[in-house]
Amino acid sequence: MKKAYKITGGTAVNGEVQCLGAKNFATKAMIAALLSNKSTVLSNVPNIGDVQITAEMLESTGVEIEFNHSTSVMRIHPQSIHTYRVSLPHSGSNRVPILMIGALLNKFGRAEVPLLGGCNIGNRKIDFHYQALQLFGAEVSETEDAIVATCNSRLKGTHIELNYPSVGATETCLFLSVLAAGTTVISNAAVEPEIGELITMLRSMGAIIFTTPERKIVIDGVKQLHGTQIEILGDRIDAASWAALACASNGNIVVRGIRPETLNNFLSYYRQVGGGFEFVAPNAIRFFRETELKSTVIETDVYPGFSTDWQQPFAILLTQAQGVSVIHETVYEKRFGYLDALTQLGAHTQLTTHCLGSTQCRYKSMDYHHSAIITGGTKLTSNNCVIDVPDLRAGLAYVIAAAIANGTTIITGIQNIERGYGSVPQRTKNTNLNIETIDFE
Ligand code: EPU
Repeated sequence: MKKAYKITGGTAVNGEVQCLGAKNFATKAMIAALLSNKSTVLSNVPNIGDVQITAEMLESTGVEIEFNHSTSVMRIHPQSIHTYRVSLPHSGSNRVPILMIGALLNKFGRAEVPLLGGCNIGNRKIDFHYQALQLFGAEVSETEDAIVATCNSRLKGTHIELNYPSVGATETCLFLSVLAAGTTVISNAAVEPEIGELITMLRSMGAIIFTTPERKIVIDGVKQLHGTQIEILGDRIDAASWAALACASNGNIVVRGIRPETLNNFLSYYRQVGGGFEFVAPNAIRFFRETELKSTVIETDVYPGFSTDWQQPFAILLTQAQGVSVIHETVYEKRFGYLDALTQLGAHTQLTTHCLGSTQCRYKSMDYHHSAIITGGTKLTSNNCVIDVPDLRAGLAYVIAAAIANGTTIITGIQNIERGYGSVPQRTKNTNLNIETIDFE
């Protein structure tokens, strides 16, 4: 019997939600801990599937992990690591195995990590990671089920210009460079807040890293790093999702545990379409609808642009805005698959292969449906519609759609949601959202 969410919607959602620690920093911080031979303490670690998967991978090499779910504190002891071979966790895979290669090469001169999983939202190539490994002096190959990297001596600092400011490739370069001999320069690096936080953490472990205004990161390699302690920052994607729920349902939600500056331009887009917000305490924001919702044009981009991970909850908000809105997805080529199921609830959406934003993106003239036209405001309704979650962010978008739709919706495939958000019924228990987990054939 599978689990599903049953949501009866159509009423304004009011209450409070505690933001999780950022998934896309927590998992990287766990790997950064591996770069030292001393223990590291992480606080505000989210108890979600992706953290579990990452913990299982670290443990498969002998690393000891103590995770106290009630305090959200995780202690990582890399002293007991004894193998360069990372086993595939029982609970699935994610995007992080490749990021373990830097630390393993440094300790063993060899790394074997499982092939990558994660959401199916595009080709998600890893050519930049391979290019970086080679430039640092490692050899890399693939077997049927693993990526294998080797190096005969200490990695050597290098100059690398990324073709695109990839978050993961920037992290790979950071992990390879901090213990490499000499200086590394990463040009066209990603500058997402989680990267900034990772740099802060590495600095606290003894790394020497300089950032510049033009997406360049300069690293002077050191011989060893020590343990540290750091609090995982609040998840800006999680926070934006609850903000979208508040506004789309014409409700009022206080989100706690989010640094407002990490939401950056989201707050302005939110205001522009008719959302309102106020700071009610340090790191606590109340989100609501301020005016009638207006249609808009959104283009996803790397930071500080509109995050591709905000796109899905925002699309649901736009179904409620009067007129025609456009979203041009420029980061991933296949991130609109989730819109189709929303027609069951009455949403009017259409996809095109054209670049409908102000810029021509990398997917110009390719056969990818990467621009969406959303015609609103449509009252969504659901008569026990069953919608299956295709990927993590789409999953929470479905929760928002079900919450604003009159009637009852069943959402299946919720493991895809809980991998990044934990249990939504638990998380929303201090709101009036009518959601429960049920057994579903
Ligand atoms: N890319 C390449 N070659 C590479 C690496 C990336 O062509 O070697 C392309 C990808 O195909 C994609 C684009 O560059 O089109 C951006 O990919 P990036 O490497 O930046 O993404 P990622 O590191 O795999 C992280 C987050 C994603 C988030 C992106 C963009 C994690 C675990 N994942 O992925 O989060 O969308 O950065 O900000 O940090 C999510 O949380 O739901 C999620 C998908």
